[in-house]
Formats: sequence, structure tokens, C-alpha cells
Amino acid sequence: MKALKKGPEKKTSASFENRDKFPMDDYTSNKNSAYSDKFDQFELNFKSKLAGKPIPHDSALGHVTGEALFVDDITPVKNELIVDFISSPVAHGNIKSLNFKELAQQDGIAGVFTHEDIPGENLYGPVVQDEPILASDIVQYVGQPVAIIAGESQKAIREAKKKVRLNIKELKPVFTIDEAILAKQYIGEKRTFKQGDFERAWRESEHILKGTFVCNGQEQFYLESQAALAHPGEHGDIHIHSSTQNPSEIQTVVAEALGIGNHQVVCVCKRMGGGFGGKETQAAIPAVMAGLVATITGRPARVAYTKDDDMRSTGKRHPYKIHYKAAFTSKGKITGVRFDIYSNGGAAADLSGSVLERTLFHSDNAYYIPNLIFNGVICKTNFPPNTAFRGFGGPQGMANIENVIQEIAIYLQKDALEIRRINCYKNRGRNITPYGQVVKNHILPEIIDQLAETSQYSKRMKQVEEFNRNSQTHLRGLALTPMKFGISFTTTFLNQGNALVNVYRDGTVQVSTGGTEMGQGLNTKIRQLVADEFAISYYDVKLMITSTEKNNNTPPTAASASTDLNGIAAVNACQKIRSKLCVVASNYFKNQEKGLKPSVKQICFEDNSVFDKRNPKNKLAFRKLVQLAFMERVSMGERGFYQTPEIQFNRDTEKGEPFFYYTMGASVSEVLIDRFTGQLSLERADLLMDIGESINPGIDRGQIIGGFIQGLGWVTNEELRYSDKGELLSFSPTTYKIPNIQDLPEIFNVETITNPHHQINIRRSKAVGEPPLMLCLSVWSAVKHALSSVQKGACPQLNLPATAEEILRRLTELKQQDKDNTAKHDAEKESEVVVVQQNELPIKKKQAA
Ligand code: MTE
Ligand code: HPA
Ligand code: MOS
Repeated sequence: MKALKKGPEKKTSASFENRDKFPMDDYTSNKNSAYSDKFDQFELNFKSKLAGKPIPHDSALGHVTGEALFVDDITPVKNELIVDFISSPVAHGNIKSLNFKELAQQDGIAGVFTHEDIPGENLYGPVVQDEPILASDIVQYVGQPVAIIAGESQKAIREAKKKVRLNIKELKPVFTIDEAILAKQYIGEKRTFKQGDFERAWRESEHILKGTFVCNGQEQFYLESQAALAHPGEHGDIHIHSSTQNPSEIQTVVAEALGIGNHQVVCVCKRMGGGFGGKETQAAIPAVMAGLVATITGRPARVAYTKDDDMRSTGKRHPYKIHYKAAFTSKGKITGVRFDIYSNGGAAADLSGSVLERTLFHSDNAYYIPNLIFNGVICKTNFPPNTAFRGFGGPQGMANIENVIQEIAIYLQKDALEIRRINCYKNRGRNITPYGQVVKNHILPEIIDQLAETSQYSKRMKQVEEFNRNSQTHLRGLALTPMKFGISFTTTFLNQGNALVNVYRDGTVQVSTGGTEMGQGLNTKIRQLVADEFAISYYDVKLMITSTEKNNNTPPTAASASTDLNGIAAVNACQKIRSKLCVVASNYFKNQEKGLKPSVKQICFEDNSVFDKRNPKNKLAFRKLVQLAFMERVSMGERGFYQTPEIQFNRDTEKGEPFFYYTMGASVSEVLIDRFTGQLSLERADLLMDIGESINPGIDRGQIIGGFIQGLGWVTNEELRYSDKGELLSFSPTTYKIPNIQDLPEIFNVETITNPHHQINIRRSKAVGEPPLMLCLSVWSAVKHALSSVQKGACPQLNLPATAEEILRRLTELKQQDKDNTAKHDAEKESEVVVVQQNELPIKKKQAA
């Protein structure tokens, strides 16, 4: 096994040196109570502020011991029902009949429910309500839920499901973007971003190139499948535990489906075993399944998808096909581009509109383009509705322009880094994005320079070229790609957060926000921020279960913005309480010292106590202060609120300032390819990111590494394959390969850089959740670079992911190709969906039911 080497320790990089000083506490299970806490006895160093410290994730211990509870770990109550579903075995068809009455009579079955049993609204959707919770007369993808089945045991359900007779008359399905275009099947309207005069740039340009870029989807592969547990209450009320990034939306969708008010539904989420975007909207169907069964039967009801069902039935990252045209000078300066962008949206709108919008916002990546047209269209196909996935459409748009840059370099026979440098956004001039926002306060050119230097890019480029001239068996490739990611929901109204902070009489504090924990460390960071506000111990603050009862009308935990939104809201609540405590404290010091004029401005919170700056020796313990405040009848619970300032976007003009700031970075990757098998290995990766002043450098380092490796999977190994009937063939970990420990590069340097210009946001931090995923584009670009040395002057076509099969296909193509570039002529016909013909399958696959 390869070793993971850490880069040279720098002041700016995440450091683990204080790790032992911050043992974890946890939200853990024990025999007596479902939600208990293990309090740690260790003391924190009060002198230093908590923000900026690499405190371990507050569920770290529970995650590794298995004590951290997920929805399906909650102890069942006596009369609880198990819920499952019957799904469509075909991609498109009319439902003729379903023997659900017969099924409902089977032993151990409590009921089988169809769309007719939904008392309220069967259609839902985050933007347009176009997606059925249960199919009514028509099915639109393999795996689409048609009926809910509830039973006393898994076994009873399994037996009953063997007897399902679902009679469907098949209709012609549409799978690919090209098929959808032929059938004129679209979702929403075409979007167009414009800047300058592309046609003129194209006409007057020194050089032009055009082609087609194709990228496949990606499965979120959270380890905890979609799950929900519903408990019926009085008068039709319902309480739901949901593994969701969006409790407020679950509340709304369940209320609408059941035909009740939002106020009758409480949705809670303690944590998720990963979401990665896959639970931003798509936790809704299982939540309604459980909620409906609980309401109809009056019994608690639990659903937890199997991994196979989850992969077959839920949406993924959108596959894209992009036709590009680029005009550029002999030096490689881009004068204009036109991108005609098509996404494969699946059978319903879901978040496809917002995802496509983010693609448009990121099709420039880190480059200033004076003249451009970006057109974006969503194709409707017979797949599960595609949805959010880390990066949210950004990765596809950025991959496309990195492909274009790589091709310009091949065409001009220049180093691609030279092309990247001269097109990179500057700080003054050449800094306006296609949507009119100025890229400010950034250090992109410095990031590129520093990384090129520390990774010894130029020297290694020479070595790689030399290697490729000599090796008969292998190829090497090297690439540096920059990354700029806009922070804020592009749907402006979602940029809000609220928090509830309760200070108790013993000086301990509970915090609740609308943000959900999915492993990204949100709760740990908020705990640090709140403890700092009162200058108390980390262990005196507890992050409570996310609940719509405490935090209402919240946005999804998404867009990487949840520490910004919820962290500031929590701090806002703390500050309201603190200002009241200041009054209590100033009166206390006045009474202690004759002649001292009470002044709240003089009150300081430090080291678990407060004092008046004029007499710092006289300290009042925080706990005592709180007791005093209670005796004086001061309220010590507050709600905080935050809305991101200054952002706006006008969808009519497609101009505005949608992002509060950008998170940026760059990466250098070197790959090694076996010329005979196409086998790829990532030999070395160097990552450098500007994430501002990190609130928790340990967690952020984890996000950077995790994001990059998840991206590595998308660009190299993960391949969704479908039968020609639209059945997902790679529906389990045996056939769908996410990266494992051996896929980590042998040399792996992960660093952060200080950006003195970044002065906004909570504690001058920056969002980190999604951006590092897009650092993976240097790996894909390195593969393209490697292939470009096979035939001098020939430009290889390379789809994404660059699997061993894809690489081998391109190697073969290049060897057969003469200089006139025949391979490129086929690019337009290539499909973004990998369909395996039925006769190529060794055995006929079982249908999903
Ligand atoms: N990290 C872990 N461990 N698990 C996850 O599911 N989701 C990612 C990212 N990092 C995810 C993760 C995605 S898609 C987003 S949008 C952000 O976390 C959301 O959390 P944040 O806003 O707190 O960064
Ligand atoms: N990112 C993630 N999720 C979203 C967004 C976004 O920009 N807009 C709506 N949901
Ligand atoms: Mo993340 S894709 O915004 O949930």
C-alpha cells in the first residue's frame, strides 16, 4: 500500500499538533437514552480562542465506534412498521394494473398504498412541482416508486414483493441528450449569458478551434442510504426523523402530501451519513412514504432504502454534453468562446435549473473571456431526476473550459500552464465575469505561481516530456489547473439562516440552527464560534438536533455556505444575550466598587469569566454571572438571524453580483498511464487553496482532501452504466468504483495560502465544502496531456471520466489516426450516457421491483 506523505509543514497549512489537547465528546447512544452525551473531562486552554484550532469533529468518536446514531439506528418502538416500495421495472410506460389489493392481504403486510392514497398533493419539487411522489398512470424511469408497502417485518415484505404483478405498457424511452433534442424534450427555458461580441471575435481571430466535450454523471454514494422514521401524533400531527440536508423542505413536502399545515409537521435531523447534495431534495420521497404510512395506520413507520434501491431510484450528478468554439491569438490569449451546454436532467426538474445556472456561472472557471456566448439547455430523459452533487454543475462547466485550454495548448504546441496564466483573472482590469460580477480581493495569479514553484512544475514538465519520448510501455501527463468557486446560493433568497441559543443556569449553552451535519463539520465549527462568543469552554456548548420546531423556513444545508449562514446567525444570537449580560455585569461591578460608573462598554469576556477593563483583577465567573442574570429575570434565550448582504442577480438581464465572495485554489497532478491497458495511476498531487482564515484547520484539511478524492473518482474511475432498457447496471459497490485508499497519490501535498485581501465573512473564513472537488480537474487534464504526446500535433478526444477503457480507446484511436484528426469528427456523436447493449450483457439483469 502506498504511504500518504504530508507536505512540508508551513505556517499556513492545517496542523494537527494540538490534536491531543482536544479530545472529543460526542452525541452517542447508550442503553438508557437514545440521545445522550458523553462529557469529556479534559480542560481546554482558555487563553487561546477556539476558532482557528483543529478541534476534532464532534462526532469523530461516535463515527469510529459506531455509537453515533443515524435514522435507522434509532431503537424501534413496539408497534413500528417497516416501509418499502414497489418500483417501475421499465423506463417509460403506462401503468395498466397493479395487484396491490392482493398484496395487502399477504401475511404480515399492513398495507399497500398508491398515489390514490395520498390525501394531499402527489406532485413535489423544489422549484417546480412536477415530480410525482408515487407514479400515477405513467412511469418515467426504472426504479420510480409506484406503491408503498408496509409490513411487520422485512421478511414479510420480501415475500409479498415476490408476488408483485405490475402490468405496464412500455412506451419509447429517451435516454441521451441527442435523443431528447430530437424529441424536443426539454425542462425549463434556454438560458444565455453574453459578454462582448463573440461572432466578431470568431471572424477576426488568428486561430479557432471547435469540438464537443462529453461528461458522465456521478453517484453521491453517501454511506447512509435515504431514510426516514415517522411517528404519528395527535390530531393528524406528524414527527419525522429524516436523513435530509433540508428539514424545512421535508416539513413542507410532507405537509402538502398529507394535506395538513406545516405547523403540524416537525422534521428533525441529527446527522447524515453523508449527503453530498443527494439529500438536498431527494430525501423527500422516503419521508412522505414513512409519513403517509404513519398517518394512515396510526403506527410509527420506518423506511431505509437498500444501497441498490437507492442507487437505482435516486438522481445523480448531471451528465453534460457541450459543443464549444474558441477563438484565440498565437500567444494563446482567448478572445472569445461559445459554449452550447446541454445537461441530462432526467425525468423531472428537481434542481436542474439551479444546477445549470451554476454551470453557466462557472463556465469561465478562472479565466477572463472578453467575448462570449454561453447557452444552457436541460434535456428531459427517462432517468431518475438528476440533482445536486458537490459542485452543483460547477465541475461540468469548469471541466469544459479546462478541456478547451488543454486543446489550445496542443494546437499552439505550448505548455498549457502558459495559456492558463495569460488568461487568468487579474485583480485590476480583466476581472469581469460573464455575468457582470467583478472578481475582487483574490490572489489567483499568486496561487498559480506559488504552486508552480512548490510543485516544481517546469522541471517536472521537462521530465515528463522526456519520459514520453523514451518509454514504450507508459505515458506520463502533468497539468496545473486553477479553480474559482462562487459562494452563495445563486437563488438569492436562500441566503439566510437562523439560530436559537439557550444559556442555562449552570452556564452551559445549547445551540440549534437550521444547518444539518453530514460529516462536513458544521456543528464543530458552530460550537467553536459560540464558545468563543461567551469565552467559555468548548465542552460547555452543545449543538442540538436540527429541528423545524426550533428553526423555521431554513434553506438547505448546501452551496458550502452553511457555516457562513448559520454560524453568523448563531453569533448574532449570542451577541444579543451577551449585551444583556453586560448590563448585569456592569451593575455588579458598580456595586462592588464604589465610585465606578457602570459601563457595558468596559465589560470583557475572557477565560470563562467577565471583568471590567478598568479593574481586570476583579473577575466574575461566567456561571455566576448567569445565575445573577437569572435572579434579575433576564431572558437568556435568543434567536439570531443572518442574510448575506450585497448579493443580487437579475435573471432577465443575466447580470448581477450573485456571489458574496469566491473560494479559490489550484492543483497540480501527475499521472502515469499503461499504454497496453489504459490503466491510470495518480502519482503525485499538490493542492493549494485560499480558504481564508480557517475556523477549524483540521476539518478543512479533511474537506480539501475528501473533496479532491471524490472529484478524482468522478474524473477517472466512477462510471454509471445502463442497459439499453435504461436499467442502471452499476448499482452497487461491486460494479461502481469509488476511490479507495490505494487510489491516493503516493506524494500528496495539501496546503493553504494566506490571502490578506479577504476581510469579510465570519472570522474572515471562507466556505470549503464543495470547492476542492474541482481541484480534480488537474488529474483529468493531465490525462489529456499524456495522450497528446502519442501523435505529435494530433488532438486527442477524451471524455470524462477517463476510465482505463476510455483511455485505451483513445490510445488505439490515436495510433490509427493520421494527421487529419479523424477522431475529432466523431466527437459530436458521442453520448454522455454509457449504454451497454442488451446482447453484450452476460446474463439478463433482474428487474428492479
Ligand atoms: N463532507 C462530508 N463529510 N459529507 C458530505 O455529505 N457534502 C458536501 C460538503 N462536504 C459533504 C461534505 C457538500 S455537497 C456541501 S454543499 C457542503 O459540504 C455542505 O456543508 P457546508 O455548507 O457546511 O460546507
Ligand atoms: N447550490 C446548492 N444548492 C442550491 C443552490 C446552489 O447554488 N441553489 C439552490 N440550491
Ligand atoms: Mo451541496 S451539492 O450544495 O449539497
